[in-house]
Amino acid sequence: MFPQRFMWGAATSAHQVEGGNVSSDFWALENAQPSLFKEKSGDAVDHYHRFSEDIALLADLGLGAYRFSIEWARIEPEEGFFSQATLAHYQRCIDACLSRGIAPVLTFHHFTLPLWQARRGGFTDPAFADLFARFCDHAAQSLTGFEIACTINELNLPLLVRDEFLNRDWNAGAAACRGAAEGILGSLDHTFLFTPAEAIMDQGLAAHRRARDAIKSRHPGVQIGVTLAIQDEQAELGAEHLRDERRERYYGACLDAVSGEDFIGVQTYTRVVVRRDGCFGPEPGHPLTVMGYEDRPQALAETCRYVWQRTKTPVIVTENGWAGDDDARRIAFIRDALTGLHGAIAEGVDVRGYFYWSLLDNFEWLAGYGPKFGLIGVDRPTQRRQIKPSATAFGKIALANAVSEQGAE
Ligand code: BGC
Repeated sequence: MFPQRFMWGAATSAHQVEGGNVSSDFWALENAQPSLFKEKSGDAVDHYHRFSEDIALLADLGLGAYRFSIEWARIEPEEGFFSQATLAHYQRCIDACLSRGIAPVLTFHHFTLPLWQARRGGFTDPAFADLFARFCDHAAQSLTGFEIACTINELNLPLLVRDEFLNRDWNAGAAACRGAAEGILGSLDHTFLFTPAEAIMDQGLAAHRRARDAIKSRHPGVQIGVTLAIQDEQAELGAEHLRDERRERYYGACLDAVSGEDFIGVQTYTRVVVRRDGCFGPEPGHPLTVMGYEDRPQALAETCRYVWQRTKTPVIVTENGWAGDDDARRIAFIRDALTGLHGAIAEGVDVRGYFYWSLLDNFEWLAGYGPKFGLIGVDRPTQRRQIKPSATAFGKIALANAVSEQGAE
């Protein structure tokens, strides 16, 4: 059995599911010509209008919590204008959760920025922490009924992706896409994913703290944390120091900065093996997911152990999931990840909840709608939802508060 009151949920983010996020930087970048994005988000899966039925589906599965994000670009589409109508919409989302006994978990920033703010420099804007805190204050003043909140989703992600992305080979086509994006934002540094490390460690962490204080001052009882993208970093024999260097660079300073807070949101998708020659990646020969990640559910327990050992701060698994069309493999992935997590909890790692990513098949950022993480499939032309067997299997685990021995049927 998992601990009593262990939270079982699924997660989404606004831009990936709502549709029509026209005032955001990502919308502008998707619509650039040519574009770095494989396709446009467009109507996404119309969660903006279908949130109530989607939350009902989540509740019917047997889950007890829903993590979703409120969209800054919708709430403050122009600098200084806060839309009460949009805030009322998000209150309806919270109320839809509460009326079905679902605990809403709010994320205040999940990758996207209002276009006006990205044009000012995004996280590199010296006023970023002030502006983000002001938005959080407005939202927290207006919204009620939530007990857990995440300030910034995967604050450290740019540390992991920026250099790799910007240092790749830019053929003429890709360079044209980059040029079009830079024409819109001034620099790619201005969109969250490609924020330089210094700005993350400085403005980003300051923004998290300021947001936390703003939300707490309106709702002292709310539990607040940041979420971090953490891979299970392993080393081949003799490469341990290289693995440790990677851990320090990508996670160490962020973890130290937030240790002792209410919780740390851990988001793990895979393992990376560091070799003696300094190369890193999936273990050669190991099966990969459609994301190109090593398909390794055991990675989750390892990262939770690492985070707990370093911070002694409660962990919520705010994302973990598997992308692909083979839903039977998704079931096995979830079961194996949870069996491992259960083992870590039994050793004393304080894990308070598990949110599968994602509730719905959705817009997977630059990769468009190809990779499918969802428990629930969506036929986008009709927006019809389809419950996958993995959703039912995960719901049974949640209801039992245990991974049964018989295997999921
Ligand atoms: C993000 C999600 C994304 C998922 C799968 C995480 O980095 O928070 O928005 O869809 O990984 O790639």
